[in-house]
Amino acid sequence: MANTKIELALFGVGRIGPTHLNSIARHPRAHLKYLVEFDLALAKKCLDEEGLEDAVIVPANEVAKVYADKSLHGVIVCTPTPTHQKIITESLRAGKAVFTEKPLAHDSAAADECYKVAEECKLPLLCGFNRRFDPTYDSIIKRVGEGAIGHVRYIKTTLRDTMDPSWPMLGTIGTCWVDLLIHDVDLACAVMGELPITVSADGDAFADVIRKNNDFDQAIINLKFPSGALATVEASRFCNYGYDQRLEVFGIGGMLEGANFHDDQSKLYTANGMNRPLLQPSFQQRYRESYYLELDHFIKVIQGKEKLRVTRKDGVAAIKICETAEKANATKSTISLQW
Ligand SMILES: NC(=O)c1ccc[n+]([C@@H]2O[C@H](COP(=O)([O-])OP(=O)(O)OC[C@H]3O[C@@H](n4cnc5c(N)ncnc54)[C@H](O)[C@@H]3O)[C@@H](O)[C@H]2O)c1
Repeated sequence: MANTKIELALFGVGRIGPTHLNSIARHPRAHLKYLVEFDLALAKKCLDEEGLEDAVIVPANEVAKVYADKSLHGVIVCTPTPTHQKIITESLRAGKAVFTEKPLAHDSAAADECYKVAEECKLPLLCGFNRRFDPTYDSIIKRVGEGAIGHVRYIKTTLRDTMDPSWPMLGTIGTCWVDLLIHDVDLACAVMGELPITVSADGDAFADVIRKNNDFDQAIINLKFPSGALATVEASRFCNYGYDQRLEVFGIGGMLEGANFHDDQSKLYTANGMNRPLLQPSFQQRYRESYYLELDHFIKVIQGKEKLRVTRKDGVAAIKICETAEKANATKSTISLQW
């Protein structure tokens, strides 16, 4: 299999699906055989945009033919989170490797069940924590591990999204904790190479649509790790100056910083000061390379060339920490975790 094309099916082309189609179109060893969707016109448009017209569009209620195809190696799950568990377990039981968008499932127990099925079926299950694959953050994770800044004291992550407050789906995509903050909770754990022992959290809702759904659009999670390091994970659904994504790791021997990405790296200096292009608008631009690299990793795992970089422990722990943060915020308490 090392040099053959990996045959893939992708489920769901809403916000994130087209980005993974773009990675497939760019990857020399990936071939999209099926695109599964409810919205067939949208599916056709997305395939046309990426020049993937030879893929077969399968209505989501006719998915049995995808599972029955013995030549299919892997499934990529880009559907809403509540649908993940069913698609993941059905795909695994049909003998397909699975790469799913985060969070792996709607809660930590369901996620653990999915991994159990993967282990029973002896197939890889990759959770798409794409920040681990971002070259800047990956370099920071590696250099922390190599001791470049000594003992880590503090991590600060910033995740400010650029959602449109009038987007009708906003109230349906999951709570800020498990849907949004999970990205940087996992990132903080990846940087530390350990899991937190205490969790506290706070949040508020500034937008009506968020408040009506008992959710928060501004939130922080505080973590304490066994090594003593502290972390603050901060997220907002709305940011009016662009997709603000930063990571700072402060250690006894220095600081590592992952700064924001602008539309380009030019700077204009005039008598009025310095001006830079806007921050990139959203995840599709900022993390484009990371999505390609996680697909590349998935393919190499299927080919037997790499071991899963996001383990069962990682995939379940991140959800559990976010569930704990939700509880900590609701009870205004600091909650201890044991692993
Ligand atoms: N890693 C990231 O940066 C990132 C960014 C956005 C979303 N996500 C995750 O990706 C997943 C999808 O989010 P989204 O915002 O793209 O959702 P979305 O609602 O925009 O799109 C989902 C698509 O899936 C289709 N669909 C629903 N059920 C299906 C099924 N059973 N089979 C096939 N297609 C089905 C819908 O018709 C829709 O087009 C979520 O789990 C979300 O958390 C990750």
